[in-house]
Amino acid sequence: MLHLILQTKLQAAVRAILPDADTSIVLVRPCPDARHGDYQSNALLPLAKAQKLNPRQLAEQVKAALDVTELCDAVDIAGPGFLNFRVRPAAFAGVLESAARGEHLFFAKATTPRTVVIDFSSPNVAKPMHVGHIRSTGIGDALQRVFRLLGHRVITDNHIGDWGTQFGKLLLGWKQILDRDALAKDAIAELERLYKVINAECDANLARLEEAKQELVKLQAGDAENTAVWQEMIRVSQAQFDTIYGRLGVKFDHALGESFYNPQLGPVVVDLLGRGIARESEGAVGVFSDGSVPPKEDAFLVNRDGEWVPDPALVRKSDGGFNYMTTDLATVDYRLKTWAPDQIVYVVDDRQSGHFKKLFLTFARWQADAAKQVKLVHVGFGKILGEDGKPFKTRSGDTVKLGDLLDEAELRAFNVVKGKQLERPEAERVPEPLWPEIARVVGLGAVKYADLLPNRQSDYQFSWEKMLALQGNTAPYLLYAYTRVRSIFRKGGELPGIRSQASGVSLAAPDELALAKQLMNFGLVLEAVAEEYRPNFLCNYLYDLAGLFARFYESCPVLKAEGAERATRLLLCELTGRVLKQGLEALGIETTEQM
Ligand code: ARG
Repeated sequence: MLHLILQTKLQAAVRAILPDADTSIVLVRPCPDARHGDYQSNALLPLAKAQKLNPRQLAEQVKAALDVTELCDAVDIAGPGFLNFRVRPAAFAGVLESAARGEHLFFAKATTPRTVVIDFSSPNVAKPMHVGHIRSTGIGDALQRVFRLLGHRVITDNHIGDWGTQFGKLLLGWKQILDRDALAKDAIAELERLYKVINAECDANLARLEEAKQELVKLQAGDAENTAVWQEMIRVSQAQFDTIYGRLGVKFDHALGESFYNPQLGPVVVDLLGRGIARESEGAVGVFSDGSVPPKEDAFLVNRDGEWVPDPALVRKSDGGFNYMTTDLATVDYRLKTWAPDQIVYVVDDRQSGHFKKLFLTFARWQADAAKQVKLVHVGFGKILGEDGKPFKTRSGDTVKLGDLLDEAELRAFNVVKGKQLERPEAERVPEPLWPEIARVVGLGAVKYADLLPNRQSDYQFSWEKMLALQGNTAPYLLYAYTRVRSIFRKGGELPGIRSQASGVSLAAPDELALAKQLMNFGLVLEAVAEEYRPNFLCNYLYDLAGLFARFYESCPVLKAEGAERATRLLLCELTGRVLKQGLEALGIETTEQM
C-alpha cells in the first residue's frame, strides 16, 4: 500500500540523516485534510526533540534524502516540521492495477502475526441469551474476523457460565417440579422457571435453602445423578445457544466453560496463599491492595462515605466455595500454558471492568514473568437502551430474548424489502420467492450493524426505525449500495474480466481519485480496528466508501464511457464492491446481490 511504501522510504531517509534514531515511530498516515496532501508524517517533531535538533531543519534534510519522485508530485514541509505528501494519480492507479491482478485488497497480512485469544459471548447455562448478548457476541465476532483477516492466529473461546451455586436450586427444581413437555418445547425457559420458583421458596424458607445447598454439595462431590442432570442442563442450553450462533454466523474454536477449570481452583488458591499474594479475612480468602498506587487508582480499594476500604479480589468464600475471580485466574493460566498468546481479549460488559482490573493485577502479582509476555485487555461496552432512554425491555418489562429479537428483525426487514420492490415497475423487481432470504440478510445485518456502529463504550438507543432505514449510516444502506455496484455488472453484459484491467488504469476525475484514495485506506482501518478493538472504525469507513461511490457514480458515467476511462471506472466499481463485501464480512454481516 502507498502509505507503507512512503513510510519505508521515509524511514530510510531518516536513518540516512540520523543513523541511530528509532524509526519505528516514523509512520505515514492519510492527511485528515486533503487540501494539505494525501499522506503525512508527524514523526520528525518527536525525533528532532529527542535529538535536540531544529525540527524544520531536520525536515529539510530528510526531504533532501528522500527519493519519492516516482510516487509523489510534491513533498511539502508544513508548520513546525510536518511532511505532507501529494501522490501522483498514476501511483494510485498502480495500486488499483495490483489489486486488479489479485495481489491484495488494499490490506497486507501482518508481517509478525500475533496469537490472540478472544473470550466473547459467554452466556450462562439455564438462562436465555438476551438482547445484551448481541453486544459481546457481535463485537467479539467482528474483532476475531478482523484479526484473522490481518493474518493473526486467533483462538476464540466461549467462557460459558456452567458452574456455580445456582445449580443447587436448579437441581432441586429439576428433581421435584420439572415439566418434561415444557423442557422439550423450550428448555431454557423451563430451566428459568425452575430457578425462579425454587429461588423464591429458598428466600422464604431456610429449610428449602438447605435442601438446595445439599444438592450443590452433592454435585460438587461428583455425585453421579446430579452430575448427569447438570450435564443435561448444559446440553439443552448449549443447543439453544447454538441455534442463535447459527443464525448469527458465529463460531467458536473452543467453549471451555467455567466448570472446565474446576479442578484447578483449589490449587490456585493454595498457591496464592503460599506465595503470600492472597490472605484470609473473615473466613474468606482474597487478594488485597499492595499499596503500590494512590488509593484513587487502586482497584483493590473502594471509597465508602469518604473512606478508602478494602475491595479485595475474592478467591474463596467462607463456605469453601470458589469465586468468579478464581475461575478467571485459572483460565488465564490455562490459556497461557496452552496457546502462549500475545494477547487475551475479553469482550465483556463495562460493568465488569472492576473485575477485570483486579484479575489482571492479581495475575501479574501471581505470575509476574508470564504476565509480561501477554497483553490482557478488557474490551468493555455500554448498555442497550430503549427509545425511552431506559434499559431496553419488552412492553411487559421483561428482558428481550435474543431469538425473539432476531425473528422480529427479519420480519421488519421483510417489509422494508417488500416496500423497496413495490416501488419499482414489475419487470425490475427481484422475484418474490427471494424476498425472505434478502430480508434475513438485511434484518440480521441491521441489528448487528446498529450495535457495532456506536463507540462501544457508550450506551445506545435501540431503534428499529433507525437501524432499518435505507438512508443514513445503516446496514440496509450499505447492503443496498453493494447491490447497486453489483447491478452495474449485471447490466454490463460482456464486461471484460477484471484481470484484463491490470494495466492502463488512469484516474482523472476528482470523484474517481477520491474513491480510489478511500479504497487505499481499507488496510489502515482494519489495523486501527485491531489496534483499538473498535469495529465502529470499519463501519464509518464503509459508510464513507459508499458515499464516495455514490458521488462517483453520479458524476462519472461507467457503462457509457469508453476505452481506458470505462475500464478504469469498471475497475473502481469492482473494487468498491469487493471492499464493501469484505468489510461487511469482517463485521459478520452477509451481503446480498440484489435488494
Ligand atoms: N458468563 C459471564 C457473564 O454472563 C461472562 C464471562 C466473561 N468471560 C470471562 N472470562 N469472565 O457475566
